[in-house]
Amino acid sequence: MIKAVMFDTKPYDRESFERLLGSDISLDCYETRLDSTTVGLAAGYDVVIMFVNDVADEKVISELYKYGVKLIALRCAGFNNIDFKAAYGKVHVVRVPAYSPYAVAEFTMGMLLTSLRRIHKAYNRTREFNFSINGFTGFDLHGRTVGVIGAGKIGRAFVNICNGFGMKALAYDKYPSDGIPAEFCEPERIFEESDVISLHCPLTDENYHMIDAAAISKMKKGVYILNTSRGALIDSEALLDGIKSGKVGAACLDVYEEESDIFFDDRSGHILHDDTLARLLSMPNVLVTSHQAFLTEEALQNIAETTISNIRGFFAGEPMPNEICYHCSSLGQCKKQRKERCF
Ligand code: NAI
Repeated sequence: MIKAVMFDTKPYDRESFERLLGSDISLDCYETRLDSTTVGLAAGYDVVIMFVNDVADEKVISELYKYGVKLIALRCAGFNNIDFKAAYGKVHVVRVPAYSPYAVAEFTMGMLLTSLRRIHKAYNRTREFNFSINGFTGFDLHGRTVGVIGAGKIGRAFVNICNGFGMKALAYDKYPSDGIPAEFCEPERIFEESDVISLHCPLTDENYHMIDAAAISKMKKGVYILNTSRGALIDSEALLDGIKSGKVGAACLDVYEEESDIFFDDRSGHILHDDTLARLLSMPNVLVTSHQAFLTEEALQNIAETTISNIRGFFAGEPMPNEICYHCSSLGQCKKQRKERCF
């Protein structure tokens, strides 16, 4: 029997996992997040199942190793919350590389349309019997330029949606590949020419705060900035300044750089201590959602299926296509191609 423990569990996670578990895996679920203060809960388990705001830093990894945990199974695609150097040689890490790029891409377009055409404000007005449409003027997306940073699975799906709207698409990717209906270019051209900029690359050390004051200064006045990728790709203070000065026309944020202590929970009865987020939320042209772009039935099913199959495959000694390590995540020099596992 493989003993697994899941952190940061929500009711929808429990439901989708329990539906698929067999008698070979036992699963205990904790609502609390994994970090250095809660890692003790992982003692006695073989596998730790983590989500985006759980933290596996050096201290956590060393505790997990001490407890005999052999596998960290990320139930997400992003992996910026893992100290891969600390994990290498000790604890294997697997992830769900794709669960539904369409879920995130469709949500991104939903945020853009909501913000651009003020649908969220119209909903509130008509519920109050206010049928005025003053202040709701948007612009046609048809004929406008969208710049996508990160042309992987989600970036491509988003470009396809934008093409359906008749937009011209530019794309920047560190490792560009064929088959995307967009013109590849450097970020500078995206900043200078795009009416809408959408982030779809992973967060790494090198692109931390890639959207900073300097980048924003190069953008078109009135640019729409969409981030459904990772919060720290954007310097939130610089974004706030851009919003206040009118340089940035609107921001749609499903992720926020300091989200880990805030997102996913009901904090309506609490004081929000993050002044930058409070200020962003107070802006009429900022739309914030709580990291929900992935949340579709299809994605939950795929997350549970892939995570369980990653766990079974690991303990059955099978090749691990979804394993990720320090070498494959940052250097592109992983030995997995030869040895079928990262170490
Ligand atoms: P992917 O791996 O298919 O695509 C990522 C692309 O970014 C790749 O083409 C890669 O070459 C490129 N890239 C890597 N480093 C880059 C850099 N420094 N600058 C520009 N491009 C770079 O990943 P996928 O599935 O498209 O996901 C993208 C990101 O979306 C994930 O890393 C994750 O952070 C985020 N995400 C957000 C979700 C949400 O609910 N809001 C759900 C799922 C993913």
